[in-house]
Amino acid sequence: MADKGGLEEAVVADISTSYIDGSIGKLIYHGYAIEDLAENATFEEVLFLLFKDRLPNRAEYEALRSAIARDAAIPDEVIAMLKSLPRETSGMAALRTAVSMLSAFDSDAENLTDKEAAKAKAIRLTGQITTVCAAWMRIAKGEEPTPPRADLSVAENFVYMMSGGEPDETACAALNVYLVLLAEHGMNASTFTARVVTATGSDMHSAIVAGIGALKGPSHGGANSAAMKMFLEIGDVENVVPWFEKYIRTGERRIMGIGHRVYKSNDPRAGILRRHAEALAESSGKRKWYDIAVKLAETARADDYFVQRNLYPNVDYYSAIVLYTLDLDIDMFTPLFAMARIAGWSAHVIAQMGGRLIRPKANYVGPFDCNWTPIDDR
Ligand SMILES: CC(C)(COP(=O)(O)OP(=O)(O)OC[C@H]1O[C@@H](n2cnc3c(N)ncnc32)[C@H](O)[C@@H]1OP(=O)(O)O)[C@@H](O)C(=O)NCCC(=O)NCCS
Repeated sequence: MADKGGLEEAVVADISTSYIDGSIGKLIYHGYAIEDLAENATFEEVLFLLFKDRLPNRAEYEALRSAIARDAAIPDEVIAMLKSLPRETSGMAALRTAVSMLSAFDSDAENLTDKEAAKAKAIRLTGQITTVCAAWMRIAKGEEPTPPRADLSVAENFVYMMSGGEPDETACAALNVYLVLLAEHGMNASTFTARVVTATGSDMHSAIVAGIGALKGPSHGGANSAAMKMFLEIGDVENVVPWFEKYIRTGERRIMGIGHRVYKSNDPRAGILRRHAEALAESSGKRKWYDIAVKLAETARADDYFVQRNLYPNVDYYSAIVLYTLDLDIDMFTPLFAMARIAGWSAHVIAQMGGRLIRPKANYVGPFDCNWTPIDDR
């Protein structure tokens, strides 16, 4: 192969959901700067923007918010299935299984052509994924899940279902920013996966299940939990430099949450999350993990290896601190990423519906002209 592989330079679709200029750290969703959206938008407004190419008015916003909340309840059979899983099942495996099962209870699951029906399905899945994430978090600890409320937003409903009490305002605001920042990101690996599935003419649930599978890997969404485990392993700000010398300087390991295929300068989402991580660390009194993250990032940025390769903290680096400070189990970090990315996935699935089969070529490097040997003569 001439290039490094990984389809780095391949352009596979025209899209209007998001634009990234990785050389200057710029990200927009349909024309709106991510900084503006993180400051002002709700996750529901972003979902509307991605589906309809414009922001909603108040009535449209309220209609979408209540539709998501109304459809967020999941069938008893899915709850029973989650309860039947071994407790050590990963959050992503539980989510992947639940979303696959939800298709059997969606009367429109096999409607493969109607884009309006697909939007309604995506709205249902947005609420249902929120409920599955919160339910699994409780079930994995041996607690009863709390059903969603019809009067709450996605962020509020998750915090409510996770805690079982009145949702805390600071936690909801931080979670909303997280959801906005992770809602969409061009042709990332899981979105591409969902588009490939859709381009075969398959259904929305299959595409989303496939997207969840791609997101699970540590090179993609799995990096947020891997980053937090790394901060915990370092354990103290004093240990950062010795840890860096032992594992990173020697090339034995990678710093999780650093580096990006597209961003060769600051990931704008990381900067926003860093500010939220600092504010939460301050208000919760749990500053240690934030301090470790900052020291490790500074150590890396002062190192020639990271400077020459343009490696900067990505979205997963400081989101690990935000989610940990919000008392989320580490195993639930990547499912939370899926809870946000359902917005982008479903917008891409709808755009891809009816499109041409995605089927690249491979470069054959095996032998030719082999002679067949009967099995007993080998
Ligand atoms: C995100 C990631 C998979 C991008 O991969 P990619 O675009 O294929 O880039 P490469 O793996 O080719 O990396 C380019 C170079 O930087 C190095 N590098 C990349 N990320 C690194 C990291 N986190 N720590 C140390 N070195 C890293 C690679 O070893 C490679 O060095 P080389 O040119 O000497 O071989 C990669 O940066 C990574 O593994 N990061 C950690 C996991 C992570 O945070 N993932 C979430 C992404 S949002």
